[in-house]
Amino acid sequence: MLDTLDELRTRFVIEGGRSLTGAVSAPGAKNAALPIMAASILAAGEVVLHYVPRITDVDVMAAILESLGARVREHSGGTLVIDTSSLDSYCPPYALVSKLNASFDVTGALLARFNRAEVPQPGGCVLGPRAVDLHLAGFQRLGAAVSLEHGSVVAAGATLEGADVELGQPSVGATKNIMLAATRARGTTIIRNAAKEPEVADLAGFINAMGGCVRGQGTPTIRIDGVRKLHGCEYTIIPDRLVAGTYLLGAAITAGDVTVTGIDPGCLHALCRTLKTCGCELTTEGASVRARGVASFRPVDVSTGPYPGFPTDLQPPLVAYLSLAQGTSHVEESIFDARFVYVSELARMGADIKVSGRQAIVKGVEKLKDAVVEAPDIRAGGALVLAALAAQGTSEIGGLQYIDRGYEFFEERLASLGASIMRASVVAPVQPRTDMGDTMQMPKVVTPFSA
Ligand code: EPZ
Repeated sequence: MLDTLDELRTRFVIEGGRSLTGAVSAPGAKNAALPIMAASILAAGEVVLHYVPRITDVDVMAAILESLGARVREHSGGTLVIDTSSLDSYCPPYALVSKLNASFDVTGALLARFNRAEVPQPGGCVLGPRAVDLHLAGFQRLGAAVSLEHGSVVAAGATLEGADVELGQPSVGATKNIMLAATRARGTTIIRNAAKEPEVADLAGFINAMGGCVRGQGTPTIRIDGVRKLHGCEYTIIPDRLVAGTYLLGAAITAGDVTVTGIDPGCLHALCRTLKTCGCELTTEGASVRARGVASFRPVDVSTGPYPGFPTDLQPPLVAYLSLAQGTSHVEESIFDARFVYVSELARMGADIKVSGRQAIVKGVEKLKDAVVEAPDIRAGGALVLAALAAQGTSEIGGLQYIDRGYEFFEERLASLGASIMRASVVAPVQPRTDMGDTMQMPKVVTPFSA
């Protein structure tokens, strides 16, 4: 993990104006890998996971498992071996849990394995409050007593019993956690209005590979028949549709031509439809999607929604793209309260975007200009990188500690598509400029990226 000063010192330097061209493969999906790693707690044995993305969120989840007594080793690039047979704790430390929201996924798995979990409550994040009321109500329906003690959620139940759980909204996190808790409950659990995201279905696939019995994943009704014991297994994580979508948007915003390989085109349907409306050419063949962007493209109105709707995680990169459209787009964010925080940074690059609550009005401008900007979260980081690729001049993007949480080898992959992008390190001390308040002056030495 980088310390705070290193984080400030490390930036992407991007020379804009080059079209992305070529083929790139989709890495393993972060949002499937993290809950699947958490679910390895259920195995009480050795789990071999392939296609795990090399991102810092995976490192943190590995550290959480180790803090509970698991042994985690990287067998080869992208393959993790997790042995949870000697797990002896159900209390992961706040210092690790607070690093990522998905760490709360361990709660359901710990509850199923030890009949008790004590997990620090996730706070809010830059996207807005990250409530867990639906997770907790689900645990209670299964018979667990739930309380908040010293900042941690304590869930405990001598025996968990299968139950009918109706979610007020199709929460991804609640669906995963309830599914995990129900795997070893007595009897059958039905989750209604469940999340249909492919990553949730992948978690169900993994549970089944461990000997569990989950049916209906990918539909609004998931049925879990409790089993007595789960065992180790070997499993391959699905490809990351959100990273794949970012590269397709990269082709669109730079009027380039990018083929993303190793991805199910079906899971990118909402994005492909949107890009087509704008005038991009989208073609699919087997497990690949090709996007060809055009210099002048139409605006579009989009509302994010649960899968198969337009993914909230692709909203920031889409807005970056639409900031160059020939007209005005309306974008509604229906999942998170504060997912337009990055817009002020895009505005510093010349974008014309007005935000009111969960609505953004994006007036296309003729060009984006270079700027020094700061990524406030993972996907906003993706958006700022795309904007910089399309902008005139050389931009600097900070906040790489967020981008590295979700995008594996981002600069290497973009460079392979023809982007001019480098990771820059500042070697001189950071000194506040007197003429610009707390804006930092950063004398720097630029070093080429390394794998
Ligand atoms: C997952 O978050 C993803 N994270 C997010 O991706 C993604 O944006 C989100 O699903 C929606 O698709 C992971 O998979 C690790 P939710 P999650 O439970 O599980 C409210 C990324 O960049 N809510 O569907 O937190 C909640 O406050 C990340 O990869 C409740 O009110 O999503 C939020 O506004 C960012 N009560 C909304 O629902 C609850 O009990 C969506 O939450 C649970 C959720």
